Amino acid sequence: MPPSELDLGIIESRLATKSMGRPAGSSNELWDVIDSTNTRACALAKAGAASGTIVLAKNQTAGRGRFGRNWLSAAGAGLYMSVLVRPHGWQNNLSMSMLTIAAGLAVARAVEITTGVKIKLKWVNDLVFEGRKVGGILTELTAHPPAGDTQAADSPKVEQAIVIGIGINLSGKDVVVPLELADKIHWLEDIAFEPVDVNSLVSHIALELEQVLEGLSAGQTASILDAWRGYCATLGEKVQAVVGETTLSGLAIDVTDSGALILQTPSGKHELAAGEVSIRRADGAYY
Ligand code: BTN
Repeated sequence: MPPSELDLGIIESRLATKSMGRPAGSSNELWDVIDSTNTRACALAKAGAASGTIVLAKNQTAGRGRFGRNWLSAAGAGLYMSVLVRPHGWQNNLSMSMLTIAAGLAVARAVEITTGVKIKLKWVNDLVFEGRKVGGILTELTAHPPAGDTQAADSPKVEQAIVIGIGINLSGKDVVVPLELADKIHWLEDIAFEPVDVNSLVSHIALELEQVLEGLSAGQTASILDAWRGYCATLGEKVQAVVGETTLSGLAIDVTDSGALILQTPSGKHELAAGEVSIRRADGAYY
């Protein structure tokens, strides 16, 4: 299969979604170069762009990961995609961990459908294969006044939007990988033994994402978590959870309905919300 380049026309013609990637009154975007698709999607949210808007880039100059880390975003090396979602009616029960878990499940399913490769999900946002990172998800919540709102400043209305950013390492052929990352990451085309049809991957991600988000809004958290457990690399493992300066060691036994990780330690059970927690192997190494 020849390598494919991102092409918005092809992606939109392949979309099987109801609303994802079909934003009413707004447009999806594909950039040759941008700072960060998440930053752009947050700006679009503030400007009133519709739910379902997809922002893609071939190259990011300031791609962002969790904990303010940089995300390697060389041209042609990865998929850089952000989706804007307006959670009408269910924002009160929002848990960013659960959203990230659901998005991870959607991406893992889309990767499997497109390439046949079953990647694993490391709580809460990592896409991994045989102990190396293949991708990651950065979920962000923005709150802003409705576009064009002229209400008095003492009783401002606020609209919330979620931006789900997805980065997947596709091909390392033409990339100079920083030394510290070289043995920690994998490229999807090396795992699949062929170039990835990136336009199909994007259209499948959109469909799977739409379905898990519909599931969340319909209260189907339990079945989403069950499906996620089938891809999970963390549960049943002895891990270290690094929370700021503190490290907790224990067995990852389950996740709660809000997506928090339950760690069984000698001193009892701990529930860890995703925000500031980084999970390592029991020996402290990445997995
Ligand atoms: C992580 O594992 O730390 C999350 C990485 C998320 C990277 C993606 S690439 C597309 C989107 N734009 C960004 O700036 N970040 C996300």
